[in-house]
Amino acid sequence: MDWVNTMNPEALRRQAAIAAEHAYAPYSHFRVGAALLLTTGEVVTGANVENASYGLTLCAERSALVRAIAEYGPQIRIAAVAITNLNGAASPPCGACRQVLAEFTELDAPILFPGEKGPMTVPFKEVHPFSFSLK
Ligand code: THU
Repeated sequence: MDWVNTMNPEALRRQAAIAAEHAYAPYSHFRVGAALLLTTGEVVTGANVENASYGLTLCAERSALVRAIAEYGPQIRIAAVAITNLNGAASPPCGACRQVLAEFTELDAPILFPGEKGPMTVPFKEVHPFSFSLK
């Protein structure tokens, strides 16, 4: 797979961190960034966007995903995901983001996120082993 060679973990993490600078998080003050590497080599980033009606908050991962589809179309495939936050905390993708990413993410795609004991890299199939699917 071509995209394996295009993945530079540090560069992807850095792009996620830059994206986190654009987070809109006036309620939690938890600023998250996500960078998606597509199988075509493009990188698309997103940040969390909160709302006064808290439940309407959009996570960084889903913000990046909708941006990727809007820019490149619904056939995109995600080869790797980096997530970071500016709060120095652990931040694996939340359950909702895992399920949404599942429709577009390769099973072997490395998911990079800050864990409790430092940076982690886990294949998507281990991050979200039982996706709901109608396919
Ligand atoms: N958040 C993300 O952006 N991604 C996740 O996977 C988990 C949580 C955001 C949502 C909210 O704006 C803030 O982090 C605190 O929950």
